[in-house]
Amino acid sequence: MAKTVAFHLQKGGVGKTTISGALACQSALNGHETLIIDCDPQGNLSSWFLTDPPKYELADVLQGRCFVLDAILPVRSLEHLSILPTFGIGGTLKIYSETKLADEPYVLEDLIKEVSDKFEHIVLDLSPGLGRLERSCLIASDEIVTPMTPEVFSLDGLEIFIDELAKLKKNMRSNVKHNKIIINSFDERIRQHRDIYNAAVSSGRFKVFKIPVDPLFRKAQETNKVPQLYKVRGRGLKNGTVQALTELDLNIWRN
Ligand SMILES: Nc1ncnc2c1ncn2[C@@H]1O[C@H](COP(=O)(O)OP(=O)(O)OP(=O)(O)O)[C@@H](O)[C@H]1O
Ligand SMILES: [Mg+2]
Repeated sequence: MAKTVAFHLQKGGVGKTTISGALACQSALNGHETLIIDCDPQGNLSSWFLTDPPKYELADVLQGRCFVLDAILPVRSLEHLSILPTFGIGGTLKIYSETKLADEPYVLEDLIKEVSDKFEHIVLDLSPGLGRLERSCLIASDEIVTPMTPEVFSLDGLEIFIDELAKLKKNMRSNVKHNKIIINSFDERIRQHRDIYNAAVSSGRFKVFKIPVDPLFRKAQETNKVPQLYKVRGRGLKNGTVQALTELDLNIWRN
């Protein structure tokens, strides 16, 4: 049985795609059969890891236009990593979520059950917001991990998310776990970053992780590369980034 983890905060641009993509790679690099489900109509993870246009997308599976295993593709640059893609351009996930999804909120949970014996780890990347699609993804997951940037507005966003998630869990009878946050693009030298980290830790509600600012992420995304294997002029990810990804990998998949 696979463990399914969604990376989510309703706020945009906090690193959901970067972190979910990098941690899916970390899991595959450790030899675990890993599936990315691109649940964001922007299709950012799909354009990061796929170089050829896919035939089918997640929305085709959800609408019964193809079998789930026909839509899952191996990521060529990394063994043990597969992706169920979403087309950023010309895709139908957004329209599906706005029209039909209301009648079938458990459709993602059912899809995940269908592939659960073929993968060990399943990673969901969501779009910002907390609409029907994101809610369906959250209740289909075993765990939600929240990335945030070290800004006051992110702390406000976290409070809103905690509140909305509590309502969702109650209404949908979900037991999804939410006890880890990741402060992304963290810079130890900046006092505000340290203050936000300390505030998150002292709330006592979460295990708090940090990922440093690392320009290699954007470069890897622009060139369809696995960040852990990519080097620019002989330099790869910062040591601090590698350590953070290793620690997160251990904590997220261990139980
Ligand atoms: N640790 C980091 N260091 C440097 N750049 C980063 C880091 N994390 C993310 N970025 C960059 O920040 C931008 C936004 O990140 P990303 O797309 O992962 O956010 P997101 O939360 O998925 O956004 P959206 O809400 O639009 O889906 C990207 O250009 C990405 O390369
Ligand atoms: Mg994203």
